[in-house]
Amino acid sequence: MRKKLLAGNWKMNLVPTEARALIAALRAEIDRDSATLAKDREVMVAPPAILIPSVAQALAGSSIFLGAQNMHFEDKGAFTGEVSPPMLKSYGVTHVILGHSERRHVFNESDELINKKVLAALKHRLVPILCVGETQEEHDGGRALEVVLRQLERGLEGVSSEAVAGVILAYEPVWAIGTGRTATPEQAESIHGALRGVILERYDRAHADQVRILYGGSVTADNVDSLISKPDIDGALVGGASLKADSFARIVKARTH
Ligand code: 13P
Repeated sequence: MRKKLLAGNWKMNLVPTEARALIAALRAEIDRDSATLAKDREVMVAPPAILIPSVAQALAGSSIFLGAQNMHFEDKGAFTGEVSPPMLKSYGVTHVILGHSERRHVFNESDELINKKVLAALKHRLVPILCVGETQEEHDGGRALEVVLRQLERGLEGVSSEAVAGVILAYEPVWAIGTGRTATPEQAESIHGALRGVILERYDRAHADQVRILYGGSVTADNVDSLISKPDIDGALVGGASLKADSFARIVKARTH
């Protein structure tokens, strides 16, 4: 059985006092049920890089995983403004979001760059959360599937069959991010099935069954149940609704079937 992953992407929000208050409130809601929740799900938060040290402290002793929103693929060097995998690891970061649509479209990250980051994450035993998703225009032009499958194929270039089960995918249609327009569970399920199909083709059934595929894009406490009860939707990557303890706690406790 694949465990669901409920992951919060804080994007460029919160200062340390707010971040610590959010973690404290979340822990009050989640930690007491953690034994029950742990049976079928995992929880992760991804703060901005500069908040990672204080969030790591606030999470001490919690089962909530700590993620990063991005990283460079090199271990160190002359890369002004960047953060390396060993730096993240040293603070207990376990997951890293890669190829988020805002990285692709606002910061012009290419599939080739994202692939280097995926390989670097695996090398450092960080769980890459590889994001794919079509824009509104691509969606309207009926090219959603073509776009996400290409992003997936290129993102996974050179990933061995031993490593692929440790990759998490996230389908985030760009038109659904921050817009309040969620993909329907059926729309998302159909793309997720196709993504899993690529893993099956390139690797095999066992690996395709293991890879988790999250949905992201206007996930809220109100729509999460219907999304994650679909068989190929293995969790959610949540932006706005992860910034409030009550809504994120409700999402974490979503009904899974
Ligand atoms: P929203 O949940 O705010 O739409 O953001 C989704 C997202 O981009 C998560 O990575």
